[in-house]
Amino acid sequence: MSFKVQPAPPARPNRCQLFGPGSRPALFAKMAASDADVINLDLEDSVAPADKAEARANVITALKEVDWGRKRVSVRINGLDTPYWYRDVVDLVEQGGARLDQIMIPKVGCAGDLYAVDALVSAAETAVGRETPIAFEVIIETAAGFAHVEEIAAASPRLEAMSLGAADFAASMGMATTGIGGTQEGYYMLDPEGARHFADPWHGVTAAIVAACRTHGILPVDGPFGDFSDTEGFRAQARRSATLGMVGKWAIHPSQIALANEVFTPSEAQLTEAREILAAMAEAEAAGQGAAVYKGRLVDLASIRQARVIVTQAEMIAS
Ligand code: COA
Ligand code: MG
Repeated sequence: MSFKVQPAPPARPNRCQLFGPGSRPALFAKMAASDADVINLDLEDSVAPADKAEARANVITALKEVDWGRKRVSVRINGLDTPYWYRDVVDLVEQGGARLDQIMIPKVGCAGDLYAVDALVSAAETAVGRETPIAFEVIIETAAGFAHVEEIAAASPRLEAMSLGAADFAASMGMATTGIGGTQEGYYMLDPEGARHFADPWHGVTAAIVAACRTHGILPVDGPFGDFSDTEGFRAQARRSATLGMVGKWAIHPSQIALANEVFTPSEAQLTEAREILAAMAEAEAAGQGAAVYKGRLVDLASIRQARVIVTQAEMIAS
């Protein structure tokens, strides 16, 4: 380990973030009753320009009137390149009350974007006498966001989570696809027999997000999967993200909530194996050894750290 110890991310489950447009208040109670860990009320791209002000008012009312239980409630504001975002922040902080846990900032491109929102939020929080600071989450969904992902992860003590936004990312990067996440038709290798093997076009940015997040104690999250009729496609995308270190995924339809919870909750089998590895290593250490054999394979001190990731995640979710 470097002399600079890797900070732990916030100890709260973030397996599924359920989105709903701020312009559809009929969905809010259903969202609150869902099994998602995080609720994202949207003021940005699921709300048409003509509905922005009404959506903002709907969300402020819902923050105060809906029983959100123990869920984390986050509101996605409009991007800093729009005329809406400052009014989103000011009205949310001044009128949203204590249940506004988090603000999601879309399309961040540099650390300065967080600084700007932080300055406005800080002033408004002080003005209303708010005691607990509002947390931030950001979406990496532009070329600039990808290029500056590490400085963004380090930008604000308010920052708790970072998501990959596949659709805007693809647009900003000029990727030749209209798919939102998952397998892309044009991204394949040919094996020597000429058969197609699809690769993962989201891999590079996903790994960059995970590395930046883990360096700075932030939760890395996989964003939307657009085709909500394709459950196996969602599962495959979510499993890839989980394997690379992400902690959860968005749901843009209620049918995706159980899938995300399933993939991002350690299974009984994973948990049993992790506990057995820890037990095997405890035995080895008691015998003065740093390595042992578990089911025919090497386990050593690094295996303890790997197993602890799974056990810690399972215990945190259970509590
Ligand atoms: N949260 C909670 N409940 C939802 C929901 C959501 N996001 N979306 C739909 N539902 C409810 C519907 O009200 C309906 O409930 P009912 O059985 O009580 O009538 C049920 O789930 C089935 O909905 P369905 O008819 O399949 O969907 P729809 O046509 O009403 O809406 C979408 C489909 C995709 C437009 C809608 O799910 C949506 O707006 N998703 C979020 C989009 C978003 O926020 N995007 C921004 C982030 S990418
Ligand atoms: Mg987007």
